[in-house]
Amino acid sequence: MHTHPVPVITIDGPTASGKGTVAHIVADLLGFHYLDSGALYRLTALSALRKDTPLTDEHALAKLAEHLPCHFTGGEIFLANENVSDAIRAEAVGNAASKIATLPMVRHALLGLQLSFRRAPGLVADGRDMGSVIFPTATLKIFLLASPEARAQRRYKQLIEKGFSANMEDLCKDLLERDARDANRAIAPLKPAQGAYVLDTSHMGIDEAVAQVMAWYAAAKKVVQ
Ligand code: CDP
Repeated sequence: MHTHPVPVITIDGPTASGKGTVAHIVADLLGFHYLDSGALYRLTALSALRKDTPLTDEHALAKLAEHLPCHFTGGEIFLANENVSDAIRAEAVGNAASKIATLPMVRHALLGLQLSFRRAPGLVADGRDMGSVIFPTATLKIFLLASPEARAQRRYKQLIEKGFSANMEDLCKDLLERDARDANRAIAPLKPAQGAYVLDTSHMGIDEAVAQVMAWYAAAKKVVQ
């Protein structure tokens, strides 16, 4: 009997490009599992900050990543028994995540956990290297872009809604720093995977972006069948 591999849609892109929102909705529409890979870097960063582990201690950080006591239930993210869904969204945690994400041993330690999300009936995975490194055989690969201004606006709105304070000028600066760090790192740098469709959402609402991804997936599925 010929068995098809579990389908995967990868959605990569820079910080605050709207990947998470689009990926979530697409996963719901298709009844697929969802992997927020950035959350794993954020969880590792949060653990490190709480344990005062230096963000340069690659061995210790990799150990934390390898044994993350995390679970994902009903859209909420838990570290041990604590719901940290909001705590991991703090800018300080995002910045620390972006720093530790440059460390090869940390990336390697999170590999198995990421691959374990590929379960039937399918997976939508969002991050930086989902299509290029983690799921290179994905059915459909998307690279989601938006201008720095549009992304800073979105991040501002998201932070204020979560009750964090935010300042547009600082956000823009952080965002450009994070872009540079993600794009210039030696391992798994942020760039469109081979065969990825690039979608610029600067002037596009969520619904339109979701509709485009769904249309591309319908076409990609036909090619595979
Ligand atoms: O919300 P934002 O897009 O800033 O970040 P995120 O997707 O939650 O990821 C947090 C950090 O983890 C990013 O700044 C990336 O540097 C890193 N990351 C990564 O290196 N590889 C991934 N697959 C996902 C995130």
